[in-house]
Amino acid sequence: CGIVGYIGKRTAIPVLVEGLKKLEYRGYDSAGVAVLDQQKIVVSKSVGKLVALEEELGEDFSQSCIGIGHTRWATHGRPSFVNAHPHSDCKQDFAVVHNGIIENYLELKDKLIEKGHQFVSETDTEVLAHLVEDFYEGDLKEAVRKVLATIRGSYAMVVLSLRDPDKLVAARKDSPMVVGLGDGEFFVASDITAILNYTRKVYILDDGEMVVVTKEEVKITDFEGNPRTKEVFDVKWDAVAAEKGGYEHFMLKEIHEQPKALRDTMLGRLKDGSVVLEEVDLTLEQLARINKVYIVACGTAWHAGLVGKTLIERWAHLPVEVDIASEFRYRGPIIDDHTLVIVISQSGETADTLAALREAKNRGARVVAVTNVVGSTVSREAHDVIFTWAGPEIAVASTKAYITQLEGMVMLGLYLAQVKGTLPQEKIGEIITALKLIPEQAQEVLNQEDLIKELAQSFVKVEDAFFIGRSLDWAVAMEGALKLKEISYIHAEAYAAGELKHGTLALVTEETPVIALATQRDVYDKTISNVKEVKARDARVIGLTYKGNTNMAKSVDHVIYVPETIDELAPLLTVIPLQLLSYYVSVARGCDVDKPRNLAKSVTVE
Ligand code: G6P
Repeated sequence: CGIVGYIGKRTAIPVLVEGLKKLEYRGYDSAGVAVLDQQKIVVSKSVGKLVALEEELGEDFSQSCIGIGHTRWATHGRPSFVNAHPHSDCKQDFAVVHNGIIENYLELKDKLIEKGHQFVSETDTEVLAHLVEDFYEGDLKEAVRKVLATIRGSYAMVVLSLRDPDKLVAARKDSPMVVGLGDGEFFVASDITAILNYTRKVYILDDGEMVVVTKEEVKITDFEGNPRTKEVFDVKWDAVAAEKGGYEHFMLKEIHEQPKALRDTMLGRLKDGSVVLEEVDLTLEQLARINKVYIVACGTAWHAGLVGKTLIERWAHLPVEVDIASEFRYRGPIIDDHTLVIVISQSGETADTLAALREAKNRGARVVAVTNVVGSTVSREAHDVIFTWAGPEIAVASTKAYITQLEGMVMLGLYLAQVKGTLPQEKIGEIITALKLIPEQAQEVLNQEDLIKELAQSFVKVEDAFFIGRSLDWAVAMEGALKLKEISYIHAEAYAAGELKHGTLALVTEETPVIALATQRDVYDKTISNVKEVKARDARVIGLTYKGNTNMAKSVDHVIYVPETIDELAPLLTVIPLQLLSYYVSVARGCDVDKPRNLAKSVTVE
């Protein structure tokens, strides 16, 4: 989603619309603005592209100089007119725009309904507007502070109020927010790009900070009201760089967004040592009927499915087959009402995946979807949906969507085990504890970027590369090979490490780098034996294993380390260096990283 707010001397609406346009590249499903005009808040919204909002506003719009605007990427609640922001309280005295997720909104909503508040949308954001109204006692900032103390989740929000008409109040936690400094005018925005036409001087808010902006001044405090001092950040980026948050490519930005995407996706779903998947409603009776699981997907999502297979088999003791969606329908899979079909799709629109979903439903299967897009066809047609909260992914090569799909598989695997009782509660608790550490550990892996960048230089002239591993490492090897292929055009293949000697080893020479993943403890020694097989053919081997492993370095040329975790979660960490490696190889070879030749982000034809 994108947020813009304005207070100053210009007419607000064109500034807001202009700002929202700059955020358009992120994809959106609806947009809206709210301004204060002659003793009332005037809200205009529309579904679809921004031009629809511009048409709705027409030529004769309010000349107010204070307002807020939003483009929405649906999370809670479908894309629709009522779910579009800004949201208001019953009397329309307050208007709120918000990015992020309010974890405890249902509980808060129930309480507010008991108090007589009436809700019109399905969003978590509307709760914020009603809460501000509920807490308001003559001071907007105080009311917002009380709201902040009441809500849980991640957010960047801006509040506009009829009762305090000369200010905007904004706050941030785990979702970006900046304040643009003009001459007698100020801007608030989720992204610098939205305000770059007007100012290059900004304050970047940190988590736990809020701000009161009037025409005259900007006051930043923490949530307790203690003043915070800030340096003015002078933005040097051009408009194109700003869209990418200062990164050279969307792919790199998205790789770096992974700790946040992981955090957002687990938000509210891991409670007291159990997995809570509110969107999935499978009872023990229903699960007892299931005797077979199919995971169906395309491309990167299929690779997430390969990890899912091992997790579900291991934890929930259900047999799982993983199918490429374009193959699934035509091979006559055995499906009936004892079958659970899991479809995975970032976009939720891939034609083959959708066709597989429909076929499975027609044959009586229960269908659970894992998707990144609320309101997508897949999310509407599946019986149950687990949303990945990666946010819009722009680069064709999937990174943050994949990592959250893996996380979705982990949570679904645990959920099934929990309902079926196939894992002791204690073990589930242990896995959850380890999972909660993953976002931080992912950041640690990202911190090794320079090392991987250097390593990538040795791949510039390479023509073929192999990725090997066993078990879950093999599944990640496939994703690593795909990333390298799709963006650097180097021929890359992934092999089950033990299978190499049955033919492919003939291709290994000193010219062929081999990336060997070795995290899975139960097959570690065997993987190392396979590494020695390729080493004996003079291949250059890059190992990938846990920090603390001193053994692998003896058998390979170079080792990349990831923090230690339980083996089932290792894919969430090992994929990151492989993404970075592909990225830097692609850059070094001068390829079009974000838009590789012949490929599309969403494939809606069979
Ligand atoms: C295209 C994209 C891939 C993606 C695949 C499946 O090929 O380039 O990155 O993995 O489609 O897309 P989906 O949206 O269904 O996950």
